[in-house]
Amino acid sequence: MVRARLDKSPRDVAAMFDQVAKRYDILNDLLSLGRTKAWRRSVVATIAPTTGMRILDCAAGTGSSTAPLVSAGADAIASDFSLGMLEAGQKRERELTFIAADNLALPFADGVFDVVTISFGLRNVANTSRALMEARRVTRVGGRLVVCEFSHPTNRLFRVIYLRYLMRVLPPLARAFSSNPEAYTYLAESIEEWPNQSALAERIAESGWSSVSWQNLTGGIVAIHQGINGGGASRLGGSDNTPGR
Ligand SMILES: C[S@@+](CC[C@H](N)C(=O)[O-])C[C@H]1O[C@@H](n2cnc3c(N)ncnc32)[C@H](O)[C@@H]1O
Repeated sequence: MVRARLDKSPRDVAAMFDQVAKRYDILNDLLSLGRTKAWRRSVVATIAPTTGMRILDCAAGTGSSTAPLVSAGADAIASDFSLGMLEAGQKRERELTFIAADNLALPFADGVFDVVTISFGLRNVANTSRALMEARRVTRVGGRLVVCEFSHPTNRLFRVIYLRYLMRVLPPLARAFSSNPEAYTYLAESIEEWPNQSALAERIAESGWSSVSWQNLTGGIVAIHQGINGGGASRLGGSDNTPGR
């Protein structure tokens, strides 16, 4: 069994998701105590997809985060670097376009998407800032970033209860139901060490996105962050993607 460590070695992350791919979506529903669907509805409401809107859903896994965007009429593509996840998705979501791609080097020209979105993927990427800058490169000026990711409950007592669930309840549940329970130990650890809402907003802004804001879901267990590609250079020295570049 492969499990990723907190250095998020791309080889380990991809291999780990290959191993959980078949039961990934069922386990998501189970371990989130049924909240996943509501979180996905909030992402769709935030994106507000319209007919023909060009959306890249990166780290899309089996395409569960992409399917509702396509159902709403958007021209959405699912990309991921785990071939196992893509294969599991392709079997189920036959109408979706799946592309094997690394978030750190996306195979798209500058400024081709209206929206780039990433659900429960950014936390697993080896270099967060680079992924955010690469997402901005492929987004048109005026286009948006929508990130849905586990975050930190804002109420202290709720946070203690939630961390107990993550560290003590989730691993045995995963041992009972997953083909790679170690992946869920990584899940718990990676959620705990992930930046909180304001720190992630700062990271997104440093990567060149403007007007960064966020919305908490389920008391902050999950947060949806948004930003706009205002067209300037990033504070981290990323490239300027004004039209025609
Ligand atoms: C927890 S899954 C999320 C899948 C889907 N977005 C969802 O909401 O169910 C995280 C995904 O991130 C992908 N991933 C991690 N790092 C990546 C990278 N550098 N490039 C592409 N995909 C990556 C993994 O392969 C995995 O499928």
